[in-house]
Amino acid sequence: MAIIMKNRKIILKSRPAGQVVQENFELTEEELGDPDKGDILVKSNYVSVDPYMRNRMNSFKSYVAPYKVGQVIEGDATGCVIRSNSDRFREGDIVHGSWGWQENAIVKENSLTRINPDMAPESAYLGVLGLTGLTAYFGLLEIGQPSVGETVVVSGAAGSTGSIVGQIARIQGCRVVGIAGSDQKCKLLEKKLGFDAAINYKSHPNVRKPLMKVCPDGVDIYFDNVGGDISDSVIYLINNFARIVLCGQISQYNQARMATGPRLQSLLLIHRVKMQGFIVFDYREKYDEAMARLADWLNSGLLTSQENIIRGFEQIPAAFIGLFEGENIGKQLVRI
Ligand SMILES: NC(=O)c1ccc[n+]([C@@H]2O[C@H](COP(=O)([O-])OP(=O)(O)OC[C@H]3O[C@@H](n4cnc5c(N)ncnc54)[C@H](OP(=O)(O)O)[C@@H]3O)[C@@H](O)[C@H]2O)c1
Repeated sequence: MAIIMKNRKIILKSRPAGQVVQENFELTEEELGDPDKGDILVKSNYVSVDPYMRNRMNSFKSYVAPYKVGQVIEGDATGCVIRSNSDRFREGDIVHGSWGWQENAIVKENSLTRINPDMAPESAYLGVLGLTGLTAYFGLLEIGQPSVGETVVVSGAAGSTGSIVGQIARIQGCRVVGIAGSDQKCKLLEKKLGFDAAINYKSHPNVRKPLMKVCPDGVDIYFDNVGGDISDSVIYLINNFARIVLCGQISQYNQARMATGPRLQSLLLIHRVKMQGFIVFDYREKYDEAMARLADWLNSGLLTSQENIIRGFEQIPAAFIGLFEGENIGKQLVRI
């Protein structure tokens, strides 16, 4: 094998015991050779960090297999084709794939998609036109089934998924209330992203009271990104025939033991509420259609894409850990 370049990658050094920390990761180096037939050598431009990765760091199987200790952290990334041994991609192509936390990688041609820079900038393919934008789109439209005039509450509202959910709900003619972790985030939601109201949960130990004020007619759709106490408070205000979209439970991901809380099933029963979990991959066949619609909204100014970009390969673990501290506004990316 002719060695053509060095690669730096970040591997899972140990499984987190509760809170994920820097020591769970290690930066290692390897040498990469020429790509075999059907393979492509890519150089990362943007690497995505995502809350779901925390679940893959546990040993038990979820909807995707756990990372192995010593394995590179897989996840979405975009980059440039450096060398191609495939008829489908040429040097210089900008591509999207799931090679993860690596500066360079040799990948199979069928694991890549070419990015269309005319539709949106490269970074958008990891955010508004990527996993989180699609999650917001399908979760709200397919499971939430919004109607004009309904009240939609979104937790994790200033994050990548939440910020898009709120804006799509507004496009659908709903009244939108966001819950987020700082005054700065709440201001952005109200002033820039068109939310009708936003509540900083860190300045309210129980968000039920402030929520009652801004949701005088109750809650028709709750898009749940966080779980825990925040979600319990929202569910107390749920309306008859409401829909609860179970998208994420980030408040629980770093817990060593599963939390217990109030038994809310009676409320769901009395109000005939539909609560449904979903995984965005279930809608894979409709991705192209959704991306085209999201891109239209983006390019017509109806949708604003919010990105939080940190620079430097070594910063990836810190950017990831920061998701659990609420350090990001919008999609957290690392620019390599
Ligand atoms: N079902 C699916 O297919 C699917 C796909 C993608 C993502 N998700 C889920 O969607 C959720 C959002 O993901 P994302 O990628 O868009 O991340 P994100 O919202 O951009 O980032 C995570 C945000 O969560 C908030 N947060 C962190 N710890 C919290 C806690 N203990 N309590 C309340 N809020 C907390 C932080 O904002 P604050 O400052 O507001 O605390 C942080 O900015 C996650 O739960 C993720 O697992 C699900």
